[in-house]
Amino acid sequence: MKGFFLCLLIQVFFSSPEPVSQNHGKGYIDVAQADTSLGVLILVNKNHKLAEAYRPHDLIPIDNKYNRGVMNLLRKQAAAAFEEMCRSAAADNIILWNRSAYRSDTVQVELFENAVMRRGLKDAEQFSARPGHSEHQTGLAVDINSVHQSFGNSEEAAWLRKHAHLFGFIKRYPKTKEKITGYHYEPWHYRYVGVSAAKYIHKNQITLEEYHEIIGKQTSIPSR
Ligand code: DAL
Ligand code: ZN
Repeated sequence: MKGFFLCLLIQVFFSSPEPVSQNHGKGYIDVAQADTSLGVLILVNKNHKLAEAYRPHDLIPIDNKYNRGVMNLLRKQAAAAFEEMCRSAAADNIILWNRSAYRSDTVQVELFENAVMRRGLKDAEQFSARPGHSEHQTGLAVDINSVHQSFGNSEEAAWLRKHAHLFGFIKRYPKTKEKITGYHYEPWHYRYVGVSAAKYIHKNQITLEEYHEIIGKQTSIPSR
């Protein structure tokens, strides 16, 4: 019996904490403040929340040529990269446009409450972020062309999967990573992280959560 309690004590005191990447699918637990000092690498998810009043200081409208949405603002660097990506896609006869970019906390309240009313809380949590937890509030996320899963089969989505990282964007909610990101597959939702991080994430087929885990441990890979 003594031996059993000793083992239990050793386990409690010496077991390593669960890796962050295995946490997200479980929902809004251990919520921390999102670290805005990380710039374009900021991590916002179910476990990392932005302050209610957070609004990036350098939001600008996306060029009308590449916008069909009411929410048409992105941070300056992300807007320039998005426009460059759209231009390059157009040269390949692929038409890309913004459907929804920056969203304030207040807008997210409406969207989330609406999603809960339509689909119930459990379902809504799989595709709509609670206020403060949407990376649309960072001004670095953009929904491109569609918000339907079938977009994943389009030639526009195929082009994005192949090229977006070259412009600093990553597909943020991939099909096989729901447990890590905490959200269903969203082939339209792209997130600006800068070119070097995007290339690393694309090459290694990882999520932003996994990237953060890696950069927490290593210094020799592209970070900011
Ligand atoms: N659809 C994504 C998860 C959001 O609401 O930010
Ligand atoms: Zn989105």
